[in-house]
Amino acid sequence: MTTRYRVEYALKTHRRDQFIEWIKGLLAVPFVLYSQPQGVFEGQDGSNVLTQTREEAHRRYSEILRDVEIMVDDHIANQNDLDNPFPSKLKLLVPSIGPFFTRLPLEAAFKFQDRKRYISSRRFVSPSFNDIRLILNSAQIMAVTTYGTLQLATFDGDVTLYDDGQSLEPSSPVIPRLIDLLRKNVKIGIVTAAGYTTADRYYARLHGLLDSIANDTDLTPTQKQSLVVMGGEANYLFEFDADSPHLLSPVPISRWLTPEMASWSESDITSLLDVAEAALRDCIKSLNLPATLMRKDRAVGIIPVNPEIRIPRESLEETVLVVQKILELSTAGRSRKVPFCAFNGGRDVFVDIGDKSWGVTVCQRWFSALHGQGREEDMIKGENTLHVGDQFLSAGANDFRARSVGTTAWIASPAETVELLDELAELMGKKMS
Ligand code: IMP
Ligand code: MG
Repeated sequence: MTTRYRVEYALKTHRRDQFIEWIKGLLAVPFVLYSQPQGVFEGQDGSNVLTQTREEAHRRYSEILRDVEIMVDDHIANQNDLDNPFPSKLKLLVPSIGPFFTRLPLEAAFKFQDRKRYISSRRFVSPSFNDIRLILNSAQIMAVTTYGTLQLATFDGDVTLYDDGQSLEPSSPVIPRLIDLLRKNVKIGIVTAAGYTTADRYYARLHGLLDSIANDTDLTPTQKQSLVVMGGEANYLFEFDADSPHLLSPVPISRWLTPEMASWSESDITSLLDVAEAALRDCIKSLNLPATLMRKDRAVGIIPVNPEIRIPRESLEETVLVVQKILELSTAGRSRKVPFCAFNGGRDVFVDIGDKSWGVTVCQRWFSALHGQGREEDMIKGENTLHVGDQFLSAGANDFRARSVGTTAWIASPAETVELLDELAELMGKKMS
């Protein structure tokens, strides 16, 4: 039993998104009942079987997504009713579900994605994880632009803006889309785990974007200033600065640290990183990893001994889960004085002090009228914030934590980020007109 549980946990639970899996299960029923694989042959004679089954599947899928939409509305009403001690129906059905910042127009989002992805036309491949992930993304950006106004967009770096380990080159199609957001007075935060203490290192990763902003003649100085880089998840803040050689200036910590973050003591940080370092060293030994340890002032990680070597995915995942467990059970971790984030970066594993929920929060405060020192009510709110990232599994992923402070979109490649930004621009354009 224990072994079975461990297998289920280690191999499955942390690699599944329960909400998406649940919706997938709901859509599988009409898929099985109404998609007609034999229609492929019947359609050959020119009859309209294909159209009929497509329309029927479309209708059923739409109805289910409308029902889920209503259930999310009920969940939101429940989360806002502080006197109600009972969980919502959605919470009972999907225990891992968290708070929502906006309602989700799932039926409209499904219709939009069905036009793009022909989900209802398929008779051999049922609605997939990716179909549903993209429907949720569309619903979220529809909500953020329709029910309110997008004020802050934050982006993860690796896999979201550029390929893993690469840089934002001048030719990247994402650059003009980000500049378009600035032009529409949306603030931008690049909230990356990549933790460097100096501007030159971020310039090396982001030069395509930074140079384009510097050279853009349409953007006002205020719009140019509306870009910050939050590195090491929540540890180093840089603001755009056209006069600096690397177009970024470090912001002194006293100008952006939140009161809660200011209470993280150096000795607690060091103890936590010491425990993480020891756990990582043990994993290198026990799994015989071709990796070396990298200790920084706010992070510790393992990276391959040389860039050509790839540490097997299973070893990276095992390492994250082991380190996370050891940290949770350690004195430093149990006290919960200092939050941390252990994650699998695809080629490496890192444990960072803080996490992206803190990083996005700093951006929400930074861009409020009083620059980080502002009152809570001046902060950009979760419903006006969108974080775009690729790491949203609950364990061993770093964008997941951003869900607690704002709305999110889960992309799988820089090309998907481009598509998402085009969708967003269209929705913002519609609203303005
Ligand atoms: P992100 O996808 O932009 O959050 O970047 C994550 C990647 O940044 C990791 O997979 C590492 O390769 C790299 N990285 C560099 N320095 C750090 C650090 O201090 N902490 C975590 N990740 C780092
Ligand atoms: Mg990433």
